Amino acid sequence: MSTATLQATRIENITRTYQMGDQAVHALDGVSATFEPGSFWAIMGASGSGKSTLLNILGCLDRPTSGRYLLGGNDTRTQSDDALSDIRLKYLGFIFQSFNLIAQLTVEENIQLPLYYLGWHPDRARQRAGELARRVGLGERLHHRPSELSGGQQQRVAIARALANDPVMLLADEPTGNLDSATGKEIMDMLGDLNAQGKTIIMVTHEPEIANIAKHRIVMRDGRIASAGEGRL
Ligand SMILES: Nc1ncnc2c1ncn2[C@@H]1O[C@H](COP(=O)(O)OP(=O)(O)O)[C@@H](O)[C@H]1O
Ligand SMILES: [Mg+2]
Repeated sequence: MSTATLQATRIENITRTYQMGDQAVHALDGVSATFEPGSFWAIMGASGSGKSTLLNILGCLDRPTSGRYLLGGNDTRTQSDDALSDIRLKYLGFIFQSFNLIAQLTVEENIQLPLYYLGWHPDRARQRAGELARRVGLGERLHHRPSELSGGQQQRVAIARALANDPVMLLADEPTGNLDSATGKEIMDMLGDLNAQGKTIIMVTHEPEIANIAKHRIVMRDGRIASAGEGRL
């Protein structure tokens, strides 16, 4: 994975089937795409069209039922679950609709968490958390808990945490879904800046205004790609 930054992320004819009793749900039904390093993608489509399933597979939180997923040139099929966890920890950053911060931990501790798992020395991790908190405008909130912050501030903490490991790729599932439109715009500007600095970003959203910040888009329908390409909606 040392050349991860240089190689495209590619999915080839991915399927994901959930068995529900004697019924098979085809959440993904033959999806192929290439995500170049430094690109910014919006994945759109109606509820239930397979967006989150696709993002979870790209984030190695789930595996396809069939098809290939090449991440940084590595075929994830041949990786053990432990190896995939390691890839997640080292190379990926996640941002979720509901922020997914740990309520009992402070801002500083939440941001540090990935670094703790990566085995960083606590002093160095604390320093990095402070830098990241300042970068997202929360340098004065280091010792607050998530419940003491607004939704937009919580999402900024989540972004700082996602950046802690300096990931190759950021994956965001409806990052503005729980925010008012002005706050959502602030979060999108932040993601736009990160992409301008070279981060690859793949973001699920069903809001066209949010999707328009991304250069590329995929529209999902019934587990398939209905359209993909560049351009505004
Ligand atoms: N864990 C699961 N078990 C069974 N079915 C699932 C599961 N996760 C998703 N699905 C089904 O797969 C389809 C796609 O879901 P999802 O990827 O969450 O869609 P979206 O994010 O576009 O709303 C839906 O029909 C959903 O009900
Ligand atoms: Mg979803």
